[in-house]
Amino acid sequence: MESRPPNDGWATASTSGALSPEEVATYRKQGFLAITDFASAEEMTNMRARAEKIVDEFEYDRASVFSTTDQKRTTDDYFLESANGISCFFEEKAHDERGNLCVPKALAINKIGHALHDYDDVFRAFSRSEKVANLMKSLELPNPTPVQSMYIFKQPSIGGEVVPHQDSTFLNTEPPTCVGIWLALEDCTLDNGCLHAVPGTPPVTRIMSVDHDSSERSIEFIGEAPAVDLSRASPLCVPAGTLILLHGANVHFSRANTSPHSRHAYSVHFVDGRARWRDTNWLRRAPSRPFQPL
Ligand code: FE2
Repeated sequence: MESRPPNDGWATASTSGALSPEEVATYRKQGFLAITDFASAEEMTNMRARAEKIVDEFEYDRASVFSTTDQKRTTDDYFLESANGISCFFEEKAHDERGNLCVPKALAINKIGHALHDYDDVFRAFSRSEKVANLMKSLELPNPTPVQSMYIFKQPSIGGEVVPHQDSTFLNTEPPTCVGIWLALEDCTLDNGCLHAVPGTPPVTRIMSVDHDSSERSIEFIGEAPAVDLSRASPLCVPAGTLILLHGANVHFSRANTSPHSRHAYSVHFVDGRARWRDTNWLRRAPSRPFQPL
């Protein structure tokens, strides 16, 4: 491991997945907690193999790109509809100016999203495992409900940056209740684009809002992001198998992957199913595919 956060923000997974009261207190103060050895080698192997198969079977006639630097441009119908199933998104740098892939398809995908936790058996099993449920129980999230999942590739050399953000900007309930789990499926380093988290949970003052009823499904951001000192961010250089618990108000980001190594991760976001889900969230499930609490 290259570095640890200057403040406490680390724990070792218990067999049950549950956290101690001290670990919960650290999570609430820091806004994150890195829990080593959370996933077994078998679980990670299964998830990686499954992601590889999904990409292998992915057929496309045009590229849908995922970018956090220009979200209004890249949030199209394909993106919005991915709330209901399993879709693949390309890295921004995967194509040349003519639209041809510069790298093999297996090394061109930015992520798979956004309902693996419901519609893929392998990811569903992990997302709804007893240890994840016990983890959520420790946080006293009354009705933990997974709403979004992503398999993130952070591809060698072209893995794009994720700009600083709070998850509750994008997955907002009233009041905000978002909790993310982010599982490292490969060792994370400064070079391959590890997560960086700024200690703390500032108020969520910026919210993404989509007007699903307008013909263009117009997107706007309401409010300003909280001013935080990004130089205080802790680089979370964690080994594979570590689960990083992220408070929805924590500001975190990752830099571009400039290394020849990928940095795969699987993340799921939960909310309290009793809180009001904003119907202006980008993520809206079809009536036939409602959210399913744990
Ligand atoms: Fe995030």
